[in-house]
Order: sequence, then C-alpha cells, then structure tokens
Amino acid sequence: MLALSASILSADFLRLQEEITRMEQGGCDVLHIDVTDGHFVPNLTMGLCVAEAACRATKMRKDAHLMISRPQDFIKKFADAGADLILFHHEATSHPFEMIKYIRESGKMAGVALDPATPVRSIAHYLHAVDTVLLVTVCVGFGGQSYIDEMDAKVEELVSLRREKGLHFEIQVDGGLTPENARAKHELGVDTLVAGSMLFQSPDVRQLVRQLKGEC
Ligand code: DX5
Ligand code: ZN
Repeated sequence: MLALSASILSADFLRLQEEITRMEQGGCDVLHIDVTDGHFVPNLTMGLCVAEAACRATKMRKDAHLMISRPQDFIKKFADAGADLILFHHEATSHPFEMIKYIRESGKMAGVALDPATPVRSIAHYLHAVDTVLLVTVCVGFGGQSYIDEMDAKVEELVSLRREKGLHFEIQVDGGLTPENARAKHELGVDTLVAGSMLFQSPDVRQLVRQLKGEC
C-alpha cells in the first residue's frame, strides 16, 4: 500500500495547524518534518519548537528528517518533541549503530537517509537494523527542486537488496515528486512518497492522494 508523507517545509507557516489538517484530511499518512542546521546543509528550516508544535497538531505518524551534523545531540530531543520515526543522515555520522541504538532507547522507529551522491551499498551492512531508508532525490535541504532522474537506479538497487536479504524496511523517496512522476516511483518499489510542493500547492489534496494511491 502506497503511503503519502507531507513535508511541511512547503507549508504556509503562518497557518501551520490549518495546513497540517488539510494534509491529514486529504488522506496523507505521515507528517514529514525537515530539520536543518545550516552546517550539514546550507539552509535553516525548523527546529525543536516548530517540530513540537507540528507533532501536537496531528494524529498522523510524524517523521523527523534530521539533516544535521552530530545527530546524536538531538535524537532524544526530537523523540521528546513527539516524532515517531527519526531519520539520521548516513553522511553525518561514523557511528550508525550508535544512532540506531539512541533512537531505539528513545522508544522510536529508526531510519537512515542518504544524500543523492551516497551509494546504496554504503548502508548495506546495517539495513537489517533500520525500519526505514529514505533516499533524498534532490539537492539536500531545499524544497521545490526537480527530481534527479539518476535516483531511479538507486531505488531499484535498494529494492533488490531488500528482496535479496529478505528484509522488510520501508523505502521512502524525498524530493522533486510531481503528480506526473510520483506514481512511477511506487511502481519501482517505493512504499512512501515524501512531498512538499506537490501536496501543499495542490488545490485538492484529497483528489491528488486518491489518484496517486490508485483509488480513482
Ligand atoms: C529536501 C527535503 C524535502 C523537501 C521536498 O532535502 O528533505 O523533504 O521538503 O520538497 P519538494 O517535494 O518540494 O521537492
Ligand atoms: Zn525531507
């Protein structure tokens, strides 16, 4: 079953509750919170205050996408803020097993995210330990960009690895999805589509979500 994850980076922050409710009532399954530190990526998006408020605003699953250096310093804090799944970046740590341990100790689901330039094989040795793998499919840290077509091959490689290893982690793609290209990613084997612009700019989220899920 395809799931839709709404990235609030593209929301109107003056009306955040309304925007999140619009996604929930539109049939989205997950709220995606993009956290940056101006260091791991050259952008400042939102931190703990906004994340905590956003988590209180919905019953949807909440994913915290930590695009930050030293994720270990913030895992517990985002867990306390209400995230259900915490995604650290493989490139931000030399100790993925420690990150996964901290996330589990916080009682949350653990995910790893990959930059477009990072090969899938670099995480092959710990795929068994995560609940989710997120492939970033645009230049990391910014909304509203175009999908990098070469990322399709990474999705296919990850789907094959999952099958070969007999694993069941969730596969997400994040960035550059449009009503025209999104469905094809699910057909490659993606479970969850993370989208900002596509969802928040849609005049009819319910109709779009139904169409992407193949319900109409
Ligand atoms: C990019 C962020 C995405 C971003 C996607 O690094 O992680 O979540 O908000 O935005 P769109 O869907 O507009 O490409
Ligand atoms: Zn993201």
